[in-house]
Amino acid sequence: MESTTITLHTRFQIGRVDPRIFGGFLEHMGRAVYEGVYDPGCSTADEDGFRTDVLGALRRLNMVAMRYPGGNFASGYHWMDGVGPRDDRPAVQELAWNSTEPNWFGTDEYIKLCQKMNWLPMLTVNLGTGTPEESCNWVAYCNTAPGTQYADLRVANGSAKPHGVKLWCLGNEMDGPWQLGHVPADQYAIRAQQAAKMMRAVDNSIELVVCGSSSPNMPTYIEWDRQVLEILDDLANYISLHRYVGNADNDTPDYLAITNSIDRQIEEVDAVCRFVQAKRRSKKRAYLCFDEWNVWYKNMQMDGEGKNAPHLIEEVYNLEDALVVAGFLNSFIRHADVVKIANLAQIVNVIAPILTRGDEMLIQSIFYPFEMFSQRREGVALRPAVHGPMYMGKVNGQVHYVDTSAILNRDRLHVFATNRSPDEPARIHVRVADRSIVALDSAELVTGTDAKAANSFEQPEIVRARSFADANVEVKIAEGIASLDLPRLSVAAMTFTVG
Ligand code: AHR
Repeated sequence: MESTTITLHTRFQIGRVDPRIFGGFLEHMGRAVYEGVYDPGCSTADEDGFRTDVLGALRRLNMVAMRYPGGNFASGYHWMDGVGPRDDRPAVQELAWNSTEPNWFGTDEYIKLCQKMNWLPMLTVNLGTGTPEESCNWVAYCNTAPGTQYADLRVANGSAKPHGVKLWCLGNEMDGPWQLGHVPADQYAIRAQQAAKMMRAVDNSIELVVCGSSSPNMPTYIEWDRQVLEILDDLANYISLHRYVGNADNDTPDYLAITNSIDRQIEEVDAVCRFVQAKRRSKKRAYLCFDEWNVWYKNMQMDGEGKNAPHLIEEVYNLEDALVVAGFLNSFIRHADVVKIANLAQIVNVIAPILTRGDEMLIQSIFYPFEMFSQRREGVALRPAVHGPMYMGKVNGQVHYVDTSAILNRDRLHVFATNRSPDEPARIHVRVADRSIVALDSAELVTGTDAKAANSFEQPEIVRARSFADANVEVKIAEGIASLDLPRLSVAAMTFTVG
């Protein structure tokens, strides 16, 4: 294969990378909460019932905002069921996933978890079966000083200090007929507007995420987003995007070309935000909050059969999925000027980088690119000019074999590169037009024997990150340009010093 040159210039800046694009999502679904993060009976549980093995692994991902409690779950959830003495909390029939929700874990446990993990709390209010008033009372419970009903309830439940929840999502996927309380765009928007006004009246400092389309495949895609943004007006700080992708046709090159369509989704929703801003002749615009994204297509078990913590959508991830996760992150970085928040869906057991089995824990392939990128997120995204060989994906169109993004942090340059070729290494040259690359500080790589290689409890280290030295990848730096051969089907994260 011909070589690929990635050319950067320190003045060709896209925007500062918002650390919140490295967020996660914890839903009351399957074994995400119970047997996932919270498992008092587990040998690794701490004094609060949290699994220290799972939290230790999650700490490595260095996530920023943690969205909770759903997802579809949020649209039937009444937050009052999950606060107060544990024995007084009701077990309820959970309708989104046909499960039983014992409510042992609720707002205060979630906030404690966020504090332990240094996560920014991000709550989704129930705009499906709930009321604007219920949402506003939740803000009062979380954010107000003692002296009125809900703040006093929080104090009685053990938290004198307000929880200080800044980020609030106004419902979840309200465009989807599967959503409890689904309504057309204009009705959702009025409901969200009422909730937003009341929530802001309680705490004017909160930031609000309105429900955008749940996928580009929805028949109301974009039109829903436009209507909602026009009605919500300045109340909307962000609009949500969701995206789950997969390789159902078993066409790896096309699957890896999905970055084209992720880029397009971001650009289309950005265009709607700009359209609405222009129409309103406003100085303010809504930014993008990609609050659910991942690979999900293999395990579609969504019926909990009335159980507590059933095994739902426990996707097993392989090497090609890890490359697609890197593709999402590259796309967010390339759109750093508009994508301000993103949440990997989800964090444990349910379509997650981590699986548990009894007291055991497994790290899946997609964990590694997230970790490699997240460690290098500080700085300003640079616009890469890529010159090199391309191929045509059957559905997703033409892409370079090498997918890339770059972040500059003073004299440190982080470069991420994925070789999508299933059979050939890619020779890569990285040059910074107005500077010289002087040294490689650190570099890791994820690859494997084939696209379907995956970890299991029996063989947990089939796909993992290795240093370049361990992976036998050599970087040569000559005349300020770094050159390397990236193995086939691999993703690399490199940090250089630039002079
Ligand atoms: O993450 C699983 C589910 O996918 C979420 O509950 C929902 O919002 C989406 O459809």
